[in-house]
Amino acid sequence: MNCLVLLNLKPKYMTLNHPPFLTHADLLKFVMEMAEVCSPKDIRWCNGSKKEYDELCQLLVDNKTFTKLNEERWPNSFACNSDPSDVARVEDKTFICSRRKEDAGPTNNWEDPREMKARMKALFSGSMRGRTMYVIPFCMGPLGSPLSKIGVQISDSAYVVVNMHIMTRVGDEVLRLLGQDGEYIKCLHSLGAPLEPGQADVPWPCNPTTKYIVHYPEDRAIASYGSGYGGNALLGKKCFALRIASVMAKEEGWLAEHMLILGVEDPKGRKTYVAAAFPSACGKTNFAMLIPPADMEGWKVITVGDDIAWIKPGKDGKLYAINPEHGYFGVAPGTNAKTNPNAIAALKKNSIFTNVGITPEGDVWWEGLTKEPPAVVYNWRGELHDPASGKPVAHPNARFTAPAHQCPSIDGQWENPEGVPISAFVFGGRRSTTVPLLYQAFNWNFGVYLAATMGSETTAAAFGEIGKVRRDPFAMLPFCGYHMADYFNHWLQLGRNIPNPPRIFGVNWFRKDKDGNFIWPGFGENMRMLKWVVERVYGEVVSIESPIGWVPKYEDIDWGTLAFTPEQYDAVMDVDREAWKTEILAHEELFSRMYDKLPKEFFFMRELLLSGLWRSPEHWSLAPETH
Ligand code: GTP
Ligand code: SPV
Ligand code: MN
Repeated sequence: MNCLVLLNLKPKYMTLNHPPFLTHADLLKFVMEMAEVCSPKDIRWCNGSKKEYDELCQLLVDNKTFTKLNEERWPNSFACNSDPSDVARVEDKTFICSRRKEDAGPTNNWEDPREMKARMKALFSGSMRGRTMYVIPFCMGPLGSPLSKIGVQISDSAYVVVNMHIMTRVGDEVLRLLGQDGEYIKCLHSLGAPLEPGQADVPWPCNPTTKYIVHYPEDRAIASYGSGYGGNALLGKKCFALRIASVMAKEEGWLAEHMLILGVEDPKGRKTYVAAAFPSACGKTNFAMLIPPADMEGWKVITVGDDIAWIKPGKDGKLYAINPEHGYFGVAPGTNAKTNPNAIAALKKNSIFTNVGITPEGDVWWEGLTKEPPAVVYNWRGELHDPASGKPVAHPNARFTAPAHQCPSIDGQWENPEGVPISAFVFGGRRSTTVPLLYQAFNWNFGVYLAATMGSETTAAAFGEIGKVRRDPFAMLPFCGYHMADYFNHWLQLGRNIPNPPRIFGVNWFRKDKDGNFIWPGFGENMRMLKWVVERVYGEVVSIESPIGWVPKYEDIDWGTLAFTPEQYDAVMDVDREAWKTEILAHEELFSRMYDKLPKEFFFMRELLLSGLWRSPEHWSLAPETH
């Protein structure tokens, strides 16, 4: 069948260049129509090959986007600097354009899809002039897994193509899987930086003033304009695997979550899988790749995913999770051989660095990689770093893109098409005060409440103010594709549908003392908390009732060689009534925004929490005399 004839295409794009085996008429129509609107100079279908990757990396080197790193020390790796307007996700320019406003809910930007489409059509018109339009067929999740889903991203950015090669499964096999009429998510992306004849390109093309990240949940389609960076541009990640997938998950009875997935191997030889949601740049990658302290013999953490989990109830009533991604897009600053040796090993080759420092010898550097910066290093703006300037070398949201399978702790099961069984959920924010190091929700409903009311201090992962506490329900505030209260109800309903839902825990690695220092050492030491979580899953350890949940006794934590005194533990576990009253008022503030759809249960749980606080001492502490 000749699809070109079938579709009655205009002569301009007779050379769609699509693979000869492609017979998917709807996909050809999509590509044809987008080419008509965007007017690229040519079209290239990505086949996912190494040859394609190498060619495009060379193209990016030729365009001065990429700097090739020292081949001996950083094999097959590249670094680049973005435009200063394009360093993080743009939440205020992210829209959920559902047909009805109430389906997007109060926490998402919304506009009428017809109006937004008209605006997008105007923006995308001619937006790829002078550039190649890449067609990137990709699969989120292992190829052929019943939990996986396919997308096709159109993009005018070679940087996006090579990053998608690492972050997803790209190529011909995906098109073959699609067949003639397979379902796929339409993803359209343009840098919004057309090249006029004779105009020289810049190293990081983007639109410095106009950016839009738009989702049409009913159409299962995404349009992203003006940015080439991370979650704005690698559309398989936040746009598809979270915002669109969360809508599909709601309709189909599963979960698409901003969660890492890890496995714990214990000395008994048991393997326990845990999924954990922390907001952006709050430690998911670190936790997913944790190396236990040397004194915890027989304990090991294995990695399934570091950012996104798709979770589905199995026939046996357990929840099974896959990591839909194929790589890590991890925060570079703070990553070093001590805090995260597995990440350092993963990014040692075949990786891409964005907005880190680069040395004349072709090394990369970021704050925290080593104590001191190299004597000569160019910062993320390409300027020679001057320590006296006070300017950082790397942007705080500088990232590495590294293949998942290069992580030494990767789980042998990470590509199991059936997923791995989840026994516990952990939720954690970045809180200098108020929230204890570790606690367990009284039951599933309390756990959903805990996650729904989670607060966290904002980070550089999103454009805007940093360090301000905001409610970030389930670490999904920027990523839920529908009404947040419907999302809470979906979680509650899931708990009713399965016989023995996973236990739910809260953690806070980030509590500080009066001098502003972290009380808890964190990183590998988090294993001590994770061990208690695992033991609770099997009912092997008791707990104490605090006003906000079950907490571990000091003597039940395996402190090993860590000198962490009962006083320090008390300080990091303290539940302060006044602080919690303020906290609960902040819950109220979130609830009042979504009162119409809020689960009834939440009002009762809020009351129970308040009465628990009033029954307890003003400073509920673990010291034995208080309980
Ligand atoms: P996204 O990729 O943005 O979704 O974030 P992520 O949650 O994967 O963030 P990541 O693990 O890259 O977090 C990086 C930041 O968290 C760095 O600033 C780390 O230093 C800090 N961090 C991670 N674990 C810990 C910890 O246990 N304690 C403390 N104090 N900081 C931590
Ligand atoms: C996040 O911001 O949560 C990320 C990075 O994981 S990005 O892919 O840019 O969204
Ligand atoms: Mn993330």
